[in-house]
Amino acid sequence: MTIGIFDSGMGGLSVLSEARKQLPNENFIYYGDSKNAPYGVKTKEELINLSMTICDYFVERQVDAIVIACNTATSAAVKVLRENYDIPIIGMEPALKPAVDSHKSGDIAVMATPMTLSEEKFELLMKRVASKIMVYKIPAPKIVELVESGIVEGSEIDDVLEEYFSTLPKDTIESVVLGCTHFIFIKEAIRKLFDGNIKLIDGNYGTIQQLKRKITESNHGGSLEILNSGGSYYIELSNRLLHYLEEQNGN
Ligand code: DGL
Repeated sequence: MTIGIFDSGMGGLSVLSEARKQLPNENFIYYGDSKNAPYGVKTKEELINLSMTICDYFVERQVDAIVIACNTATSAAVKVLRENYDIPIIGMEPALKPAVDSHKSGDIAVMATPMTLSEEKFELLMKRVASKIMVYKIPAPKIVELVESGIVEGSEIDDVLEEYFSTLPKDTIESVVLGCTHFIFIKEAIRKLFDGNIKLIDGNYGTIQQLKRKITESNHGGSLEILNSGGSYYIELSNRLLHYLEEQNGN
């Protein structure tokens, strides 16, 4: 099978990496839209248009399923995409439910883009699964910009994280939900901010489990094509960041 995976840029590589781990015999086409990144500060209409352009391309390439490796594009466009394309479309949402399921007594912080956190879809999710728990919403667009420029560790990341958490009671936060695929790259920096005393939760494993339920698995294949609207600089950066992730994950 051929699976199309897209994101605003580098973040979805973390989903691609998980997909290659769980589905080693499928062919993947990864499309990063770095020319139009960041998505998290765009309007819903803009995101629907951008997502449809990418999905039209995937359909031309005859993919069997599409993964929206982006919480932001999912919030804005998944409904319209499912109405317009008759192949499986797998979306993502901040993994608040798993965070609540494994919750003990502390608070939960959700880091995501401004768009994801302000959409009604997220409000409904909070009401449905976390009505009795203190949930802090942390819009973190600066992290997206740093990861898009290839910075995933070091003082710039540490300073931005420090700033985002400065007004929150860090001692009471039990888990941080990584509600944007770009944030998978900065797990270590978040752990450091909490002196290792934090649970980090993301939706990548569950998203690929969902993809597995929607396709018939192949027993040969395993190719990968990485494309990016921003051109060769971003394709090289994508290869470098994918390698970084796969080394960390032991793929
Ligand atoms: N990686 C994206 C997400 O999961 C969006 C980042 C952005 O472009 O703002 O939400």
